[in-house]
Amino acid sequence: MDITSILNQMTLEEKINQLMQLATPFFHGSMDRGEITGPMKAMDVSESAIIQAGSVLGASGAEQTISIQREHLKRNRLGIPLLFMSDIVHGYKTIFPVPLALGCSWNLNLAEECAEIAAKEAAVSGTHVTFAPMVDLVRDPRWGRVMESTGEDAYLNSEFAKAQVKGFQGDHLKDDPYRVASCVKHFAAYGAAEGGRDYNTVDLSPRELMESYVPAFQAAIDAGCEMVMAAFNIVDGVPATANEPLLKQLLREQMGFGGVLISDWGAVKELLPHGVAGDEADAARLAMQAGIDIEMMTTCYSNHLPTKVKEGTVEEHQLDEAVLRILRLKEKLGLFENPYRGADIEKEKEFVLSEKHRETAYDAAVQSIVLLKNKCHLLPLDLKRSLALIGPFIDSTDILGPWSWKGSPEDTVSVYDGIGKHCESTRLVSAEGSHIEKTSSSLLEDALKKAAHADTILLGLGEASKMSGEAGSRTNIQIPEAQMRLFREIQKLGKPIVVVLFNGRPLDLTEIEAGADAILEAWFPGTEGGNAIGDILFGQANPSGKLTMSFPNSVGQVPLYYNHFNTGRPKDAPDAQERYASQYLDSPNEPLFPFGYGLSYTSYRYDNIKSSSGTLCSGESITFSIDVTNTGNMAGTEIVQLYIQDLVGEVVRPVKELKDFQRVSLLPGETKRVSFTITEKHLRYVHADLSRSSDPGEFKTFIGTSSRDVSEVSFRLKKDVKESLQ
Ligand code: GLC
Repeated sequence: MDITSILNQMTLEEKINQLMQLATPFFHGSMDRGEITGPMKAMDVSESAIIQAGSVLGASGAEQTISIQREHLKRNRLGIPLLFMSDIVHGYKTIFPVPLALGCSWNLNLAEECAEIAAKEAAVSGTHVTFAPMVDLVRDPRWGRVMESTGEDAYLNSEFAKAQVKGFQGDHLKDDPYRVASCVKHFAAYGAAEGGRDYNTVDLSPRELMESYVPAFQAAIDAGCEMVMAAFNIVDGVPATANEPLLKQLLREQMGFGGVLISDWGAVKELLPHGVAGDEADAARLAMQAGIDIEMMTTCYSNHLPTKVKEGTVEEHQLDEAVLRILRLKEKLGLFENPYRGADIEKEKEFVLSEKHRETAYDAAVQSIVLLKNKCHLLPLDLKRSLALIGPFIDSTDILGPWSWKGSPEDTVSVYDGIGKHCESTRLVSAEGSHIEKTSSSLLEDALKKAAHADTILLGLGEASKMSGEAGSRTNIQIPEAQMRLFREIQKLGKPIVVVLFNGRPLDLTEIEAGADAILEAWFPGTEGGNAIGDILFGQANPSGKLTMSFPNSVGQVPLYYNHFNTGRPKDAPDAQERYASQYLDSPNEPLFPFGYGLSYTSYRYDNIKSSSGTLCSGESITFSIDVTNTGNMAGTEIVQLYIQDLVGEVVRPVKELKDFQRVSLLPGETKRVSFTITEKHLRYVHADLSRSSDPGEFKTFIGTSSRDVSEVSFRLKKDVKESLQ
């Protein structure tokens, strides 16, 4: 069916309502409330407008989506099918680790596979579009939504953005009913909310916006993502939802995005409290002029655009373009031929939570877990020693994390079950010890009694799912006090302590680090979490994850990130003054655990760093190589990282910038030479005039096991390079 001819048959009201997205309960044929992720205030929407709506938010399950679509098609005059959109962020029913955890795998193929499985389960259940990946750069662990991102590095986020878009969408959406369209979010700079408070003000220089926050969106767009979601926040004083320079000049013209642009939940109407729109009609006009195609969960367009178009304040061709983009997406998804697309009640039973999907969830959990400390090789645990499992997360199946609305605790493997597979029950005791946020003296007493007889104590501590994610900001990023009390009491028993952590953000672990012998960062590991943790604890799997967001020494250091600038008075300069240096009086500058950090049960030695040349000229490349040796007695996978530093730039440059990485598997005693190739293109950055180019001069290259522990060599970018670019 030709979409232009459909457009030509549409009335003004039909066009405008095509831009409206409402949640599931508004639709005939809905069986439950579906996914609700924002405020649902009483909405002034007529039945006739709902019949003309273009998309549904948060419906799921083949039965429900088929039923809503069927009812809709009976009523919709032109038979335009609905688009079903929802947040399939880290899995549909097979839940993978939260994105911040998956980032720690540094495994792009794995991220693609997880997205592909999520798409398959969602598509067979009737979903057409997922609001993912979330690619916001994150530097502030107070912000609960850091768990949705892959971390603090623009390059790494871009690589993960590409991989996830590819996994969700595949190559041909139309021919593959088990893929979904991807909506990258939130454009732009949502992660820079002041004070880490959700929805808060963002104030960034245009240069920083372009250098740090835009690249992952560009990568997603270049990978072909069909949709972009505008952010809630302001950018340069104007809410993204009404920000024409951001959405039209930058996103559409400069970045080349031609797909559907959607507001976030209620964000069009939120232009009123932001204070840029006087009323809903004004909000509709502003969002439309900025280029928002779909208004999510408010009805400013539906109720006010008809008048705006009739009076000429909004031009009809603008409206037509928006409608066409939506119809084009429906066409791309093949909905005009088959409005039910992949939705299939029988196949849904077969695909969802299949053995194969669980296997990938297991691999993803194993590779996402980060070993933060392992004093005296306490881990892997000795099967001959008895073990006390203590803490509110031991027996919990609430380890799926935020944005796992379709995931069920009943399908999830707890730590207790995962460990139980390895241990004779006579060697194992367990106790809750404390509630997540509330002390219970009877639970504490019971735990201490049980732990007193064990050789080793394993504590499962952390944050409940609801303590991170959207609207999950915290100013205190320590383990809740009730659990710290448990930790302190357990310490008094004087036994070896392993802490396994469940959380959606980098935490302040200073006290835990000082008192625990081993720390395993499990994040929210998903459906197969318990199995992955059990296998790692007993050495059936060797941890390989590396942090993609710095863990601070205290919340006072935040925002804290590895690729910071030097300042004019760096603390570590050879001539640094004791007082007049950039530092805290009461804390180190460094994080407790840096970006790229993560231990293994084996150890790796890096030596013999070399570069193929001391100079790099335009059009040429330079290769850096290093020997990496597994010096322990267990096979392992090391994530070898390459950073550069531009020593003298037109604009100040970070002390280190990640440029490449490789996952290298090594048997005990094995050495591999790992090589990276760099060209002038890798050295380009956003200059003061917002153009991208490189500065000739001295560079350092660092290769190592984390952003902190590296070997270095220098090279020179030859002078003619910049000139030749101009
Ligand atoms: C929100 C979120 C966004 C999500 C949307 C739809 O409030 O900010 O990430 O995709 O609602 O659920």
